[in-house]
Amino acid sequence: MKIKILATGGTIAGSANSATDTTNYAAGTLGIDDLIDAVPEIKNFAEVSGEQICNIDSKDITEKIWLKLANRINELFARGDVDGIVITHGTDTLEETAYFLNLTIHSDKPVVLTGAMRPATAISADGSMNLLNAVKVAASPDSKAKGVLVVMNDEIHAAREVTKIHTLNVSAFKSREFGLLGYVNNGVPEFYRTSTRKHTGNSEFNVENIFSLPNVKIIYHHACDDELFVEAAIKAGVKGIICAGTGNGSINANVEEILIRAAENIVVVRSSRCGGGSVVVNKNFIDGDNLTPQKARILLQLALTKTNDRYEVQRMFKQY
Ligand code: SIN
Repeated sequence: MKIKILATGGTIAGSANSATDTTNYAAGTLGIDDLIDAVPEIKNFAEVSGEQICNIDSKDITEKIWLKLANRINELFARGDVDGIVITHGTDTLEETAYFLNLTIHSDKPVVLTGAMRPATAISADGSMNLLNAVKVAASPDSKAKGVLVVMNDEIHAAREVTKIHTLNVSAFKSREFGLLGYVNNGVPEFYRTSTRKHTGNSEFNVENIFSLPNVKIIYHHACDDELFVEAAIKAGVKGIICAGTGNGSINANVEEILIRAAENIVVVRSSRCGGGSVVVNKNFIDGDNLTPQKARILLQLALTKTNDRYEVQRMFKQY
């Protein structure tokens, strides 16, 4: 099996001055060759090659890097050069890159993101095992057509559903109410379920000739909120707003009124800050289904590359 590892930085490529330091370190300092050389066992499971896409802390990820990654992966698969791809990534925005690629890669071949919570220099660093497991998952025939996967801490998650739920712990990724897809049990990938929404080979989104994405902002709603941020977003010319509402996407009267007016010209999606459950029955806005606000933002950006029709956008939120 030929597996290409695309490195983007993060804590998995991070180093600190002390082996006991797990917070004061620079992310994105080691290169792809260092990561591969640290896990010689990888070569027992796949023919691996590496490529450095960027070397950053993932809080600094850009849409340009997302487009570069998606186009590079589509190109590698189209050429038939590789059987699977692993992407090493900082954990802070890993779930967003995973969902973006879930919607923009057009292949059933495995694509797996992994990272680390402890820098490579730390005692009991988690990066090497995560990388080995990610390569095993990317090389497994069982991983085909499952959408983009995230492998962390022996767990396999679906890009649509996984989210980072802990600031420091190595068990930082969960799929909350949906549950994980499988485990890497003693080095063997085993799946127990699949995500049913459309992705990768069935996705209608194509970024081949797209050089920037529509400007969509998330507005986080809270008790005693007012119209300040919505007004600023509209003034700045955003094309869409994700409102992370309370409960079932609810919004207080002040903010709702200005969002209803905004929805005459731009697309407004209601999602929820709850972290679980769907947002349903909103007559003035698009329902964000059960996507987190940060993933709803990505789907709306891609939807707006194709249409401004609210019924079409709502269809997409029910299908992806
Ligand atoms: C980052 O997201 O690049 C830093 C944090 C991490 O990788 O865990």
